Amino acid sequence: MILVKPLDVILNLVRNIITIDGPGGVGKGTLAFSLAEKLNWNVLDSGLIYRLIGYLSLEGRLETEQEIIQFLNKSKIQLLTNFKEGICEIELNGKVLAEELRNENIASRASEIAKEAEIRKAIIKIQRNAYDPKKGLIADGRDMGTMIFPEAALKVFLQASPEVRAERRANQLKEKGMSVIMHDLLELIKQRDEEDMNRKISPLKPAKGSLIIDTTNMSIKDVEHEVMENFKIL
Ligand code: DC
Repeated sequence: MILVKPLDVILNLVRNIITIDGPGGVGKGTLAFSLAEKLNWNVLDSGLIYRLIGYLSLEGRLETEQEIIQFLNKSKIQLLTNFKEGICEIELNGKVLAEELRNENIASRASEIAKEAEIRKAIIKIQRNAYDPKKGLIADGRDMGTMIFPEAALKVFLQASPEVRAERRANQLKEKGMSVIMHDLLELIKQRDEEDMNRKISPLKPAKGSLIIDTTNMSIKDVEHEVMENFKIL
């Protein structure tokens, strides 16, 4: 009898990790949570770690690269999946932070900080710790498929026009009662794309063999369907 091994086993890939990379506002977080609920897995919103540093830096609590690295090495930082709210939270030395990290100024500062190779290195362990082999993980970010979980059997890359992404982000902010200047939001999104795609270390790009989906004219249900179809045939 000839035993045919599945492709993921032959290639030594891990079946219970799905990575979702793509630019800001493309729908990574929404997709991550709808897949995680379906599969009963955890979610890693890796941008939250960069946002935490951006937040502390804007508050003047962290200044130099050295201070940031020391902070990352000595703090207890844990990513939490809050299914009830459909968001990830970050626990820093026992204090849970979430909403205070979700604004565009913090995102822009996070993107600047994310260019530094040594800071990225210090974050790798925190990200990989979010994977519990017994549970499964949807990891969303910029380099989840290329650098952090290259062993994931399914790597998704989402893209959409900057205008559509700015509109989606504006709707999210308005729902939270924040006022939005569309032109400024679009400029911030384009500037962040530029920085995230053109940095030397771990730039935003599809991992080899990614499932690339342009979500510009797609509903979240359609995107989820396409990902699940690809997951099933693994
Ligand atoms: O996903 P987000 O919008 O929360 O990310 C904020 C910034 O953090 C993003 O513009 C670049 C950086 N980031 C990164 O460099 N690598 C990741 N895996 C996630 C985020």
